[in-house]
Amino acid sequence: MRRAELITISYHNVTLDEGLVLTKKIFLGAFEELTPNFISNAWHHERGDTGDFATLEYWQDMARKLEAAGFDFLFFAEAIGYPMSGDDVPEVVIREAVQFPVHDPMTIISGLAATVDRLGFVVTASTTAQQPYLNARAFTTLDHFTKGRIAWNVVTSDNQVALVKMLGQTEVTPHDERYRRATEFLELSFKLWEGAWEDDAVVNDKATRTFADPAKVHRIKHEGEYFRLDGYYPATPSIQRTPMLLQAGASPTGRAFAGRFAEAVFIQDRGIDSVKKTVADLRARAVANGRDADSIKIMDAVAIIVADTEEEALRLRAELDATPTREAAAALFMGWSGVDLMKFDLEQTLDEVTTEVGQTMLAMFQVPGASPTVAEILDRITTSIGGPRITGTPEQVADELQAYIEEGDLDGFLIEYTYGGMATYEDFIEKVMPILRERGMLPDVPRSGTMRERLTGGGPRLPANHPAAQYRR
Ligand SMILES: Cc1cc2nc3c(=O)[nH]c(=O)nc-3n(C[C@H](O)[C@H](O)[C@H](O)COP(=O)(O)O)c2cc1C
Repeated sequence: MRRAELITISYHNVTLDEGLVLTKKIFLGAFEELTPNFISNAWHHERGDTGDFATLEYWQDMARKLEAAGFDFLFFAEAIGYPMSGDDVPEVVIREAVQFPVHDPMTIISGLAATVDRLGFVVTASTTAQQPYLNARAFTTLDHFTKGRIAWNVVTSDNQVALVKMLGQTEVTPHDERYRRATEFLELSFKLWEGAWEDDAVVNDKATRTFADPAKVHRIKHEGEYFRLDGYYPATPSIQRTPMLLQAGASPTGRAFAGRFAEAVFIQDRGIDSVKKTVADLRARAVANGRDADSIKIMDAVAIIVADTEEEALRLRAELDATPTREAAAALFMGWSGVDLMKFDLEQTLDEVTTEVGQTMLAMFQVPGASPTVAEILDRITTSIGGPRITGTPEQVADELQAYIEEGDLDGFLIEYTYGGMATYEDFIEKVMPILRERGMLPDVPRSGTMRERLTGGGPRLPANHPAAQYRR
């Protein structure tokens, strides 16, 4: 095995004997959305089966297979809006299913939790579009129904123009202001989740006809810049109370937000040096907020094409890269970044461009002295937009993943949609996971328990040094 000479992971306090291969047990999630066509515009590939995306059975089958393979969680992205150019939706969006149609991810979780016992779920909800009270109640309900296997990916949202139009707002809320709203959104949510009910408030005593003790259910008041609330939270405390909190915006404002609140962060960083910098920055921000460096678990989204020979893997990659039209790739990018590449000269770079939508997405293509041209960006955003694209034999893929973990100081990966549907994961499960297991990178027995317990190694509730703890009674 390679890398036998490695390594100390100081924050994990692992002491390695000389010659022992590094084993950091990684986390694995599947990166999905309730749409036939997610990241790679490959829904029409012969291996794709996302035509059934609107059926519960399709996702239940996927959940069962992921659980059996040892995945930790199934992650659902959310797009409330869709890509728009100017005032309308480009035809290609509807014709080629560029994240359109898209269904509501919250509603599916109970149906999936009923069919698997161990697999966790991450569901994305937008602090720009939702109301804290309704959002909190939905997560509390899901936390009950999943026995604590739910996490919230807190986003301020992409596809801003359509989102604003569909919600009847007049204009896009500026980027940093969306994060201010997100901060207040979380603070109010913590009051509801952590402060409204005391632990022993539910009595459920038929003899005294007391379901809950009124003295232990507290009135919540909130008067803020964006939200006002005065009343009682009518959802009983669930096992995690606050669902495990994830975040996935890597602009400076997004990282500051993550440093305060996130227990895990999804990144889309390509190249070990870049990953290393992002990871170090996020861990430093956690420490600056009085939290432990490893209190944030960091997972990179990777698009893997694996085959028995390198030649075959490269052939498959080329086949997938040729799949989307440039028009469809541009529409996908537009929804995520707010930048319409079809309006630019193909030889131009995006160095001078700014956006109020997804700043991380744009920053990926603004590399001082080495920014790609629009033509190069369009060719690149085929299979995967931002994270590593790993192509090769099972050993080569495992080597590269291991290098990202060890040198980039990552905690795990989100496996990105490539072919569409279960085909995305089949090769990885069959060919790569056994090697990762053999190298000690996966737990011998798949993790179980609440999302928070399995990802953070702590208890089911947020730790005392998290900002949410101050709202407890
Ligand atoms: C792995 C990953 C998953 C994401 N999933 C979503 C999503 O489901 N819905 C969404 O609106 N934004 C999603 N985003 C975008 C961000 O969460 C964020 O809202 C956006 O990038 C704008 O913030 P930023 O400028 O700080 O990046 C995702 C980003 C990453 C890296």
